[in-house]
Amino acid sequence: MGQSLTSAPSNIALIKYMGKIHKEGNIPTNSSLSYTLEHLRTYVEIEKSKSTDTWELLNGSAYFPFAMSARGREKFLEHFQFLKNKWSISESFILRSANNFPADSGIASSASSFAALTLAAANLFEKINPQTWGNDVSELSRLSQRGSGSSCRSFFSPWSIWSEEGAQPLSLPQNSLHHLVIVPETASKKVSSSEAHLRVTHSSLFPGRAQRAQLRLEKLITGLRGHQWKDCFQIVWDEFIDMHQLFKHCPEPFDYRTEMSESILVKLQNLWRSQGDGPLVTMDAGSSIHLLLRPEQKELALLLKKEYSLLCPVWSSL
Ligand code: PMV
Repeated sequence: MGQSLTSAPSNIALIKYMGKIHKEGNIPTNSSLSYTLEHLRTYVEIEKSKSTDTWELLNGSAYFPFAMSARGREKFLEHFQFLKNKWSISESFILRSANNFPADSGIASSASSFAALTLAAANLFEKINPQTWGNDVSELSRLSQRGSGSSCRSFFSPWSIWSEEGAQPLSLPQNSLHHLVIVPETASKKVSSSEAHLRVTHSSLFPGRAQRAQLRLEKLITGLRGHQWKDCFQIVWDEFIDMHQLFKHCPEPFDYRTEMSESILVKLQNLWRSQGDGPLVTMDAGSSIHLLLRPEQKELALLLKKEYSLLCPVWSSL
């Protein structure tokens, strides 16, 4: 029995999930808030197999080639086994997946891949052994969280807030932002986000991190509700700098920022200084720089896309 293609979007956190209270179940140290990136997606296809569960790359010209690491495959198959157990499924399957953007470069491919895997499995398993909760989006988000924490936010769009109760949609006035991600390095990053979550808990800046994130979360929601874009820019900027400072102050420090990403950040700061307006700017655990712009900033978004495309790959919603 084959299955049609299922896909799920990535998301970009403006208030970051970084550090876990419990590794088991990916229980975060603090609440996070993200914008869902509908144009950056993982596609998953599941087919019955006579042997054991395996993973293969999904072929197609729309996808970005990548080699899933041995650990990546293991985590993907472990999560699939967890889902099979939930639905009491004993058959074996071939999983095929691919992204329409480069993996492991700070575009949160784990968010879209685990969300897509959870959705694809739920679609298929509901046909084999339906469950009362099998189509409940909040339940699927909770299941996905076990595979990758940030994936639980990809089930809601355009804004998703992940707090103690799990992820849920958040209604905010900005519901159709332009998104650009500038990718200075398409090679896989050296420290995985799983490893970053572990190391940051030993960072000298980790004490107080949950409180700082919570305060920014509240201020950002107020700022977005009040259309205080400049305030929002500053909060979002301070937040990603905070996360990257945690990385630098670990006993085993690491840094995703490159010369290129630094120079792009300086240009963006100068833009804000000279115009008093600009995009929201953030970075995840990688060297990529994400920009979010209001609908009426389309011209600026196109200009930035053109300018940065001369330096490195840019993926955008435009
Ligand atoms: O879901 P994970 O374990 O890949 O965590 C990703 C965490 C960040 O992308 C760095 C931040 C976030 O909130 O998405």
